[in-house]
Amino acid sequence: MKAKLKLVRDQFPILKQRVNGRKLVYLDNAATTQTPRAVLDAVREYKEFFNANPRRGAHYLGGQATILLERARRKVQHFLNAPSPEEIIFTRNATEALNLIAYSFGLSKIEAKDEIVLCISEHHSNLVPWQRIARLKGAALRYLYLNDDYTLNWEEVKNKITARTALVGIAHMSNVLGTIYPIKELVGFAHKQGAAVVVDGVQSVPHQPVDVQDLNADFFVFSGHKVFGPMGIGVLYGKRRFLEAMPPFLMGGEMVEYVQEQEAAFSELPYKFEAGTPNLEGAVGLEAALNFVEEVGWDFVQKQERQLLAYALETLQKIPYLSVYGPKCLKQQGPVLSFTIKDCHPHDVATIADAEGIALRSGHHCAQPLMNYLGVPATSRASFSFYNTKEEIRRLAASLSKVRKWLGYGS
Ligand SMILES: Cc1ncc(COP(=O)(O)O)c(C=O)c1O
Repeated sequence: MKAKLKLVRDQFPILKQRVNGRKLVYLDNAATTQTPRAVLDAVREYKEFFNANPRRGAHYLGGQATILLERARRKVQHFLNAPSPEEIIFTRNATEALNLIAYSFGLSKIEAKDEIVLCISEHHSNLVPWQRIARLKGAALRYLYLNDDYTLNWEEVKNKITARTALVGIAHMSNVLGTIYPIKELVGFAHKQGAAVVVDGVQSVPHQPVDVQDLNADFFVFSGHKVFGPMGIGVLYGKRRFLEAMPPFLMGGEMVEYVQEQEAAFSELPYKFEAGTPNLEGAVGLEAALNFVEEVGWDFVQKQERQLLAYALETLQKIPYLSVYGPKCLKQQGPVLSFTIKDCHPHDVATIADAEGIALRSGHHCAQPLMNYLGVPATSRASFSFYNTKEEIRRLAASLSKVRKWLGYGS
């Protein structure tokens, strides 16, 4: 494990940096992950040798660019075990993918009598678009509240997902609590009520293998930059029968068969949903990132991240006045740990950590309804990846132990 960790860590040049005079400890992986050499190289190689606009030029480079785009799409398809590449749509990020679902599926299918059910821990990206659709269509928006240990409450599910529910939106893993929700079971229940299910896979995809056919979700989205790829590339997987029935989201070049003065006919899947020039370096980088994760291996990823989370839970909970928000159970929690320290604003906590070269996130984490539900304005969050080490957690704990003193509370 140790030797492999060193090899893996060496692939990330940014981790060698010093920040504020100390070796960087990067614990903000839920916000964005760092980029391995394989991805940096793939993007540079594309730009140096193959840069062209895909699906247009009749020239050599145009052909190569098209091959690269479709190769990346097939990589994503296999990574998610999606039935076909046509069900993989490239977007700018998960947020755009969720807006695509909301404005295309939501606007065309949801009616005034319908209800949209979201989990209270949703990121704003899987919440604000649905507020908009609910407002536009006159539909009701309902929330699933959680058990005391921040896990899914099945009573809530049974009470709120009913024959009136048109759509359920839920993250596979919460970006604040770390809770891994039982998506397969929830999808099974929602489908029995006739509801479609949108799964926000942004936080689960970097940490566990995902099989969209096994989950049976109707839509599943993620962002490239949270899984070691570039920013500006996201993925929407949708079941073919849904995508085929949905109108396009963005209009323009590349998503049309023909255009006349008064009307246009739209392309087949997946191009119907990919208007304009795609982010090909993003797609190439994403393909390299997914290959990289598979080369590192899920066994290593999961073993390492579980050990880190277990160690962090054990170490941080010994710190007086520190409260953790999450299931605190390795089976139900991914490597994300949110906490507060009594009387200390999370921004002060993150600033003090930063002074020692430790990158934490603090704030509402784009989950303000969850913060209100938890009764806190904000939390601090340490989020781990397989390249983090126990030594880094010891440095985090040492820094957090000093926070109250530094802020004048004595201990
Ligand atoms: C659970 C979850 N969903 C969606 C998003 C939005 O991702 P992006 O900003 O890449 O669209 C995030 C980002 O933090 C997230 O954590």
